[in-house]
Amino acid sequence: MRKKIVAGNWKMNMDFDEGIKLIENIILKINLKASLINTNETGVILAPPFILLQKASELCLDNQTISIGAQNCSQHEKGAYTGEISAAMIKSTGANYVIIGHSERRKYFHENDETLGKKVEIVLENNLLPIFCCGEVLSERESGRHFEVVKKQLEETIFKFKKNDFQKIVVAYEPVWAIGTGVTASPEQAQEMHKFIRELIRNNFDKEIAEQTTILYGGSCNAKNAVQLFSNPDVDGGLIGGASLKADDFVEIICSIEN
Ligand code: PGA
Repeated sequence: MRKKIVAGNWKMNMDFDEGIKLIENIILKINLKASLINTNETGVILAPPFILLQKASELCLDNQTISIGAQNCSQHEKGAYTGEISAAMIKSTGANYVIIGHSERRKYFHENDETLGKKVEIVLENNLLPIFCCGEVLSERESGRHFEVVKKQLEETIFKFKKNDFQKIVVAYEPVWAIGTGVTASPEQAQEMHKFIRELIRNNFDKEIAEQTTILYGGSCNAKNAVQLFSNPDVDGGLIGGASLKADDFVEIICSIEN
């Protein structure tokens, strides 16, 4: 049985104190709803800004359900890269995951497939687990090129890894037109693309790996639409932006996994 995951991508929100309060609130509410969450099958990941990684790891140390992730890391090991954060540094905070290839990184920081491949590599070398994002922009969907675009994004990056490395990767399908827009992909659109991605994984690796890979949906997923999105056979949870900043909404989304 593949793992289901709800991950919160906080982006550049929350200062140190606000972040601690949000984490404490999420822990409290998860504990209150513990009977609704199957902790054997469902994992929760919080991806706050770098400044909170260590504290978040400490706060969640005794919690079996919650893991901590970073939102990005450098493709370089270490050295003269002012302002960058390495995978080893992230590992040293106690975090376990790193989001790689988010569309905001691709767009605003010009991260291309080559850079992203290097980032995934260094994340794996440091015993961290990548959450690799892919997804088309609106014009690509409107011109019917969305499958082709996503296929290329995967082939040029994570499909180049060997089986035992690929197995550690969580894939997140995030149609760019749905991120932060309030326009969610329909459950049918999400399922169609997730099924397509799983087939690509099967063709590129094998059936077993395809069945085991967790594929998350991201893009305006919220407490209202999560149940429908997550009820699809190939949607294994979500990567949540805006709605992960409100403890009530985020925990409701986590509980949607079981419905
Ligand atoms: P959103 O962001 O839920 O605010 O649309 C999702 C993401 O960027 O991962």
